[in-house]
Amino acid sequence: MTGPKVIGLNGIGLEVPDARDAEKFYGAFGLQAHRRGDAVGFASPGRANDELLVLPGAASKRLHHLSFIIRPGDEDAFEQKLKGQGLRVAAAPTPRAGLWFQDPWGTWINLAPGESVYENDWPRSTRSGVDQHHWRSLDRDPRPLRLGHTLMFTPDYERAEQFFTDVLGLRTSDRAKGKVSFMAAGDGIIDHHCFGLIPSTHRGFQHASFKVTGIDDIGFGVWRMRNAGFKESFGPGRHALASNLFHYIRDPWGSWIEYYADMDRISDKWETRDWNELPYVWGPEWAPEFWGKEMNGNFEPK
Ligand SMILES: [Fe+2]
Repeated sequence: MTGPKVIGLNGIGLEVPDARDAEKFYGAFGLQAHRRGDAVGFASPGRANDELLVLPGAASKRLHHLSFIIRPGDEDAFEQKLKGQGLRVAAAPTPRAGLWFQDPWGTWINLAPGESVYENDWPRSTRSGVDQHHWRSLDRDPRPLRLGHTLMFTPDYERAEQFFTDVLGLRTSDRAKGKVSFMAAGDGIIDHHCFGLIPSTHRGFQHASFKVTGIDDIGFGVWRMRNAGFKESFGPGRHALASNLFHYIRDPWGSWIEYYADMDRISDKWETRDWNELPYVWGPEWAPEFWGKEMNGNFEPK
């Protein structure tokens, strides 16, 4: 691929009927809310970017946009590249700064100059010493470290994968062909994926996933969500492709949010492969009905 490329996932935009539902849900998840006019931004503590930007007033929940990080100084090169692809750079439809355009299926895409999220990204160790009560030193109210990835539904699976490869410079790290494609961004040692595509009848948001330190942070986070009334969840488990520990919690609109930890980290030596595996190597009781119809249900309007 030639030309500029994105170096990571910056954020996601969701249209929802009522921002108060989002504030309650994402607050319990561990994100901090920031007013952006009529919109509300949500971020892991210490993160300046709106990892989620919620736009209220819609008839029902709908994916509005994806925001990717580009290198500062690449704006002009990207603008030229987009024009060359017949894509029109447009005025910002939300308070998020950066370049805006729409993909061929109507999803807004934002390109925001910024830093890579992958540097200094090793998880801190929670276990040290001997003759210590480890359970007493655990952080019982852990918060997400950062946004990791999002998966979206697409009605045009193969063309969409090609589009995100050619136009944005994402690269497919692994594929369960016909079911999901995982895509990575950036140089050096990076997460196995920051984005993914699932075939469906129409476009839509499937889940967003936030990185936490390890299994205890996943457990305490799910406990906090349960105490806040968000009890429908799927996990914990360890995925096959990408190897990450996971636990998903159903959001107020039928889609999901995920805590993840210990994902495969890849370099430019990683080879793309097609797999035919179950989604996880251990986890909840296997139920194809649940995974197929519920986990991957696209509840957004066309
Ligand atoms: Fe995920």
